[in-house]
Amino acid sequence: MKIGIDKLAFATTDKYMDLRELAAARNVDPDKYTIGIGQDLQAVVPPTQDIVTLAAAAAQKLLTPAIAQRISTVIVATESGIDNSKAAAIYVKHLLGLGDFVRTVELKEACYSATAGLQFARGIVALNPQEEVLVIAADIARYGLNTPGEVTQGAGAVAMIVSQNPRVLAIEDTSVSLTKDIMDFWRPLYATEAFVDGKYSTSVYIDCFREVLTRYQQLTGRPLADFSALLFHLPFTKMGKKALEAVLGDRADATAERFRRALAASQAACRQVGNLYTGSLYLALMSYLQNGEAQAGDRLGLFSYGSGAEGEFFTGILQPGFADYVLPLSSALRDRQQVSVAEYERLFNQQLGMTAEDINFSTEGDSAPFVLAGQKDHQRQYRAN
Ligand code: COA
Repeated sequence: MKIGIDKLAFATTDKYMDLRELAAARNVDPDKYTIGIGQDLQAVVPPTQDIVTLAAAAAQKLLTPAIAQRISTVIVATESGIDNSKAAAIYVKHLLGLGDFVRTVELKEACYSATAGLQFARGIVALNPQEEVLVIAADIARYGLNTPGEVTQGAGAVAMIVSQNPRVLAIEDTSVSLTKDIMDFWRPLYATEAFVDGKYSTSVYIDCFREVLTRYQQLTGRPLADFSALLFHLPFTKMGKKALEAVLGDRADATAERFRRALAASQAACRQVGNLYTGSLYLALMSYLQNGEAQAGDRLGLFSYGSGAEGEFFTGILQPGFADYVLPLSSALRDRQQVSVAEYERLFNQQLGMTAEDINFSTEGDSAPFVLAGQKDHQRQYRAN
């Protein structure tokens, strides 16, 4: 039985900042951001948005009444959790109006956990082929104002339906996971921004990619030429280039050039929103499917990485008609309003964060379908907008 991704959709906030303006404000050459790091625009997050509202906005695009009926499980993968106990998936289930006979859970392992969610979903569908699983990767990447990581912030969610006979990507059985206990990026319970050793994280990312790819090739005997594209978790788009070139070296044959073109296509959307943490690999997949040379029958290789650290290399075969089930990125990226650096800083400092106070947010300036209206009696107040 084929099992995999049946449909994908993306949502981000309705505000963005031009990173050349951030470069000017931080007294940095703009080429460092746009060429050296590989980011052009960054999603700006108003206090009325969090991972629940972003996740619900992405998932809502996928749902029809019939699909909603078939969803047995909602998995929200995130490292920007809003509660240490209650799963974000419960709030999302409520906002989406799903029936009560559904399983809901939240997964965490830095930027990796949506891939665990996909694999768990495959298991559920293998045991119960009539069921469909909604897997949502939702995050807000926050490194802090005036930090080296600031240029690699971002926000958004990718929602996926996992089912039998998938219409986008049939995931193949062989995958390689790797876990090592290292401290390249983490966020203690008392912190709203991550601690990160940026340079170390980029080198362990590359080492992890090499290790899982090598082992995959040992297990399968499959040459790189069997792939039409390798897709990467993109915390910033240069990261994918670093990893790809670490494997290609000075190769300039048809396979290597095809991979380089595919990487550029996968980077296009990520350049415009920044890091989605759990969602970045899946935004790269959507971006490749909408901007690249993808064709039904192609085999794609996907590298998922989460600091801490865990990596997985897995593969899938594109299905006939896949393009119809990858919801257009253009509307989410186009229907946004540019804000100044000063406005970004103001909104950054307005996030609900760790406060225990009651608070009401004005939701007037937010055009998203779901909003966080504030906090009352220690409970977040979500509503349709
Ligand atoms: N024009 C073009 N490129 C320029 C430039 C200019 N004027 N100035 C600098 N660059 C290049 C550098 O050569 C470097 O390229 P390289 O990485 O290919 O060597 C790149 O821009 C970044 O410059 P660098 O000085 O190394 O950046 P930094 O010290 O500000 O840190 C990160 C960059 C990515 C480490 C930092 O943003 C970070 O910590 N991000 C969060 C962590 C993360 O995302 N990790 C990923 C793994 S999960």
